[in-house]
Amino acid sequence: MLEKDIQQVLFTQEQISGRVKEIAQEIQRDYQGGEIMLISVLRGSFVFMADLCRAIDLPCTVDFMAVSSYGKGTSSSGQVQITKDLSEDISGRDIIVVEDILDSGNTLSYLLKLLEHRRPASIRLCTLLDKPERRVKPVQVHYCGFSIPDAFVVGYGLDYAERYRNLPYIGILKPEVYGG
Ligand code: PRP
Repeated sequence: MLEKDIQQVLFTQEQISGRVKEIAQEIQRDYQGGEIMLISVLRGSFVFMADLCRAIDLPCTVDFMAVSSYGKGTSSSGQVQITKDLSEDISGRDIIVVEDILDSGNTLSYLLKLLEHRRPASIRLCTLLDKPERRVKPVQVHYCGFSIPDAFVVGYGLDYAERYRNLPYIGILKPEVYGG
């Protein structure tokens, strides 16, 4: 039903699950003997977060925050507003921010700076998808699932007009769906 709007499958469920396991192993190696706090930036990252945290065999807590960005796409003003803050204090903790996609970098450069001011022991970024050619603000990425070209992708948490988040794979949306 949703599939009719997909032009091309970019990553299958199997490919995603394989890559998520590899990232989880990298994280496990890097934080061996420690405890991590995963911070999911809602809403897009909820699916990735759920799979990633279950693939990491380390003591781990999870927390969630939500932001809204203004000027995305066209003007890229980079104004970000926190609409839901964390429930936990992050000072002294080893945190990993979990994102579904890194695009202009506006959201993440703002968010990482904001979180750094709260004095975590360390802070790293884990993004499932990265569109490097769209970057406006530099952002350091520690863990990345896949680098992708500048296409309109949906599924596995990513939306168009809040739909398609529940597709189990990542696909390119047909341009006629969004009037492209
Ligand atoms: C996406 C993504 C990042 C942001 C990245 O969220 O989850 O937060 O955009 O874009 P940027 O690098 O250009 O700042 P979106 O605003 O689509 O909200 P959602 O997670 O609720 O879908």
